[in-house]
Amino acid sequence: MINKSDLSLIANEEINAIHLEEVEILNALITLVNEGKDRDAITDTFQAFIGHMQAHFTYEEGLMKEAGYGMFTIHQAEHYKVLNEARYNLMDWSSSKDIERLQEYFSEDLVAWYDQHVDAMDKPMADFLHKGTN
Ligand SMILES: [Fe+2]
Ligand SMILES: [Fe+2]
Repeated sequence: MINKSDLSLIANEEINAIHLEEVEILNALITLVNEGKDRDAITDTFQAFIGHMQAHFTYEEGLMKEAGYGMFTIHQAEHYKVLNEARYNLMDWSSSKDIERLQEYFSEDLVAWYDQHVDAMDKPMADFLHKGTN
């Protein structure tokens, strides 16, 4: 779980709102995965989460590209990596229905990535975009 009040706020209100909305989906998904009962709900919520991430990343990438941000390629590569991992895990879940593997994925990799990405990548991006518009 990600505590919404622990999530770093960055210098872009739109993206803060996107992050909070996404964390709500992610927390709901983690709850379902930990309960491990409702397979269809897990699959549906996992798909919704991936769709949300896709739109979120596309939005950030558009802003970075437009502003000519130097870290664009590195930032985009992190987005690709986490999205690919999520897609892989959804595929694996869909075919194997291995709940323990899914629990492992959500408890370890993803949550740690999320906080780290907002701090290390989104924060400096928002600062740059903010300055650029002043
Ligand atoms: Fe972000
Ligand atoms: Fe990002």
